[in-house]
Amino acid sequence: MAAERAPSATGAARVLVTGATGTLGRHVVAALEARRAVGVRVLSRREPPPDTPAHRAWATADLTTDPLEAAVEGVDAVIHLASTKGAGDGDVIGIRRLVDAAERASVRHLVVISIIGCDRIPLPFYATKLQIEAVTRAARVPWSIVRVAQFHSFVDRLVATPASLPLPSPIIADLRFQPVDEREVAERLVEVALGQPRGDAPEMAGPEVLTLVEIAAVWLAESGRAASLVPVPLEAVLGASSAAPPASVAAILEGYRAAENTPHGDRTLGRVRFADWLRQRRDAGQARGHTSGRS
Ligand SMILES: NC(=O)c1ccc[n+]([C@@H]2O[C@H](COP(=O)([O-])OP(=O)(O)OC[C@H]3O[C@@H](n4cnc5c(N)ncnc54)[C@H](OP(=O)(O)O)[C@@H]3O)[C@@H](O)[C@H]2O)c1
Repeated sequence: MAAERAPSATGAARVLVTGATGTLGRHVVAALEARRAVGVRVLSRREPPPDTPAHRAWATADLTTDPLEAAVEGVDAVIHLASTKGAGDGDVIGIRRLVDAAERASVRHLVVISIIGCDRIPLPFYATKLQIEAVTRAARVPWSIVRVAQFHSFVDRLVATPASLPLPSPIIADLRFQPVDEREVAERLVEVALGQPRGDAPEMAGPEVLTLVEIAAVWLAESGRAASLVPVPLEAVLGASSAAPPASVAAILEGYRAAENTPHGDRTLGRVRFADWLRQRRDAGQARGHTSGRS
């Protein structure tokens, strides 16, 4: 039977964040630290950088190989974001070992991020996410799973990468996304982590569904770059006589065209549109430029 946990000396909730150094994790740490009644512990494979604030606890560990007892000790909730983003065994081994350690440490709440449509789009990485969900559901630690849509930073790369090539580059025009602001996801995960375990929580996506060609139009307008992208409908890609993708890839692309990566049931929607996110990023870059220009 799980041991009773003594409250922390300060009465603050203690939260371990895996993947805390990543794109989303940095916002989760900031959102937790903004709530002053929360003690944050970061888990990373790396040592803490020299500018790490003194109040932030740090556990250096690889989820797949290192002992995790010290990382979970005294923790009330774990927010699990770490991922190699590959379809190999690493992420599944990581969640198994984390669940095991969390059970032994009587952690009260395990919050795991997943991806909307991981059960509908046959991407190998999504199969890994399904396995992670299954391990979480079988855990003896109370849990919440929050499936999330692609981040704005993800769809940004879908356009920025081909747009950076020196030649006109094709994009598949009719793939669909409902991208979401990472900071809003972070706020939502913190809210879930500090509340009662939800099991399968409502999925989270952004405020609008956009095709890739619409995303590219917003991106080009915001960047002021000349169009170097050639929109091609998926039908034309699949019907190409010479370079048609294999059936496994076609099924993945058809899943995105059918918007299987957007919420189908209960949902929480962010408010920040992709255009807002691009503008905020530009403004933040300009503000940083002004600051460094003054020094
Ligand atoms: N990007 C999207 O659009 C999207 C959408 C929905 C859900 N998600 C999910 O959201 C989560 C966070 O995504 P992200 O884009 O923020 O990821 P990211 O920037 O790639 O960061 C990945 C993090 O995982 C940690 N990590 C990787 N392998 C590890 C290991 N073996 N042991 C310990 N830590 C390990 C890394 O920490 P160190 O390098 O410091 O060790 C890093 O902080 C992922 O689970 C992802 O699948 C992403």
